Amino acid sequence: MTGMAIATPLSRTAAASLDGAGPVAGTGPAVRLTHVHKTFGRPGPAAPVLEDISLDIAPGEFVCLLGASGCGKSTLLNLVAGLDRPTQGSIEVPGGRPALMFQEHALLPWLTAGRNVELALRLRGVPRAERRAEAERLLEIVRLGGAHRKRVHELSGGMRQRVALARALAQAPKVLLMDEPFAALDAITRDVLHQELIRVWAGQGLSVVFVTHDVREAVHLAQRVVLLSSRPGRVAREWAVDVPQPRRTESAALAGLCKEITDQLRKEVSLHGRN
Ligand SMILES: Nc1ncnc2c1ncn2[C@@H]1O[C@H](COP(=O)(O)OP(=O)(O)OP(=O)(O)O)[C@@H](O)[C@H]1O
Ligand SMILES: [Mg+2]
Repeated sequence: MTGMAIATPLSRTAAASLDGAGPVAGTGPAVRLTHVHKTFGRPGPAAPVLEDISLDIAPGEFVCLLGASGCGKSTLLNLVAGLDRPTQGSIEVPGGRPALMFQEHALLPWLTAGRNVELALRLRGVPRAERRAEAERLLEIVRLGGAHRKRVHELSGGMRQRVALARALAQAPKVLLMDEPFAALDAITRDVLHQELIRVWAGQGLSVVFVTHDVREAVHLAQRVVLLSSRPGRVAREWAVDVPQPRRTESAALAGLCKEITDQLRKEVSLHGRN
């Protein structure tokens, strides 16, 4: 089966994957965007970056956001993270502030891996006596159990992103926002981190919104792929990826879906700058 356009994410019963991971039925959305518009600068003739985005992310759902460079993917993530406000429309995140992870790990280089995670725990109000053990537990989750004392420069790019993930988990988020977090890594490290991310997502019951340029990455990870149109960014199309995890990228269903999404993305990229 190839992809299919779907109407409303919450009305859909998505295939649960990895032992119960996936959208939780019967609860409200983890993230709700209602008619969100964003224009930078003073209101006026400036062209909007995002136009009329309405999107629900269910609790436990894994959504990938694709779109041409400059179509507003990072802007959308920043709005959901609460780093900026929509010009119009509303954004609800009932479970509290989401955690955000970028392409650059943004770890503090003068601190060890463990201290970077502990800092996030401190900001969350975890008592000092508990921070060390909790940081170790979180580093174990991302399979960096022995790295507590290592400084950032002693870690590989993949290890740094694992620490960044542990630090994000230290915020005990209900929603994890990821902006091309593995784009700077080599293909093999990226594949390993995909598996790790799916394991962590399934284990922690998080909702994940993951921005990528890479269609293969999107269909490998997501339960739903959302394609934004070229500027102004609108929801152009959505596909459900009803293939259980762990997924094999060579599988016929994924390959067909990958091609279909790539064709649509190419169309959007070719439109970019013309409107
Ligand atoms: N703070 C800002 N002030 C003014 N313009 C901005 C600001 N942030 C983003 N923009 C503009 O909004 C548009 C969308 O930017 P955004 O970073 O969201 O795109 P993107 O889809 O994430 O692109 P990429 O795939 O290259 O990361 C761009 O034209 C950018 O210049
Ligand atoms: Mg971006």
